[in-house]
Amino acid sequence: MKGLILSGGRGTRLRPITHTSAKQLVPVANKPVLFYGIEAMARAGIEEVGIIIAPQTGDEIRAAVGDGGRFGVRVTYVVQDEPAGLAHAALTAEPFLGGDSFVMYLGDNLLQGGITDLVGAFREHGPDALILLTPVSDPHNYGVAELRDGRVVRLAEKPPEPATNLALVGVYMFTPAIHEAARAIEPSARGELEITDAIQYLVDAGRRVEPHVVQGWWKDTGRLEDMLEANRLVLDRLEGRLEGELVASSCDGRVVVEAGARLERSTVRGPAVIGAGTRLVDAYVGPYTAIGEDCLIERAEVEHSILLAGSSVSGLEGRMESSLLGRNVSIGRGERQPRAYRFMVGDNSEISIL
Ligand code: DAU
Repeated sequence: MKGLILSGGRGTRLRPITHTSAKQLVPVANKPVLFYGIEAMARAGIEEVGIIIAPQTGDEIRAAVGDGGRFGVRVTYVVQDEPAGLAHAALTAEPFLGGDSFVMYLGDNLLQGGITDLVGAFREHGPDALILLTPVSDPHNYGVAELRDGRVVRLAEKPPEPATNLALVGVYMFTPAIHEAARAIEPSARGELEITDAIQYLVDAGRRVEPHVVQGWWKDTGRLEDMLEANRLVLDRLEGRLEGELVASSCDGRVVVEAGARLERSTVRGPAVIGAGTRLVDAYVGPYTAIGEDCLIERAEVEHSILLAGSSVSGLEGRMESSLLGRNVSIGRGERQPRAYRFMVGDNSEISIL
């Protein structure tokens, strides 16, 4: 059995971060989302992993993942020229997948329970496809499944009026029959070859599509609030580890301070993680915060946020919260008069001031 992780696409909902970086590399608890998927595959005993990349962000993903050796897998990169849909991605990977069955994992998804049990169920029951479902409060944002007597009868991609609240989770198991299905379907209204339609094709052709309702949480990290929630869920299981330097500072609860980080007259209240080379000076970092490498927080308070490497926050009067800062972002108090807000921000940025 092979693995296929989809790390192409445009990432429009996470702009401006994704103007310069792949959304699958945005970190959750200081680890790129994509790595969780690769680790889940390795744990399930999958050794051959294909990663779909887009021409624009592919190099960055190659640089981050390498040949997969450090995860215990062998990675083959498959370039998808256009983000023409999830079924199109599976077709693009056909030369890599050959006649093998495979797990398809959306590179921006996080699944708490991993995939080991599911791979086991797929091997044991031998269906043509296995899909994962979970009840959600906003099914119109996902693929939606309708079941009857435990069988899949209908699937719809982001239906305006969903028939159920059962969303398709972005992890699927397929036999090579999916390629034939992907070739048979037409692009959807949004112009994509939808994997949801390809699975419906299998259902209509009388193939066996086995539904599984996931236990534990699942997150699609496509939007800011999902990203912050994923960060919160992963940090909730964090084990504390203090390897950096603490000078007149304290860490309460489960906190990771990486080697090379330095806290001066600061307090960190966990769960939180402080990356290597980061400095906290007269600062407070509150729960559910992940500060990347080489950041600076000085005379400021940050909570429930994600800061990517090289960012700095200093001299803020109010607490910064529920925020996502990209790499090398600097937020601080200016020295010059007149006393005014001064910004230099990229396209699609969002700033909210109370
Ligand atoms: O997250 C679960 C949902 O994922 C399912 O409920 C939907 O049925 C499914 O269509 C998908 O919906 P999204 O609109 O969230 O998919 P998105 O465009 O965000 O793409 C998911 C991942 O696949 C993402 O890491 C980018 C990558 N991708 C996407 C496209 C369209 C590719 O690699 N190639 C592509 O052509």
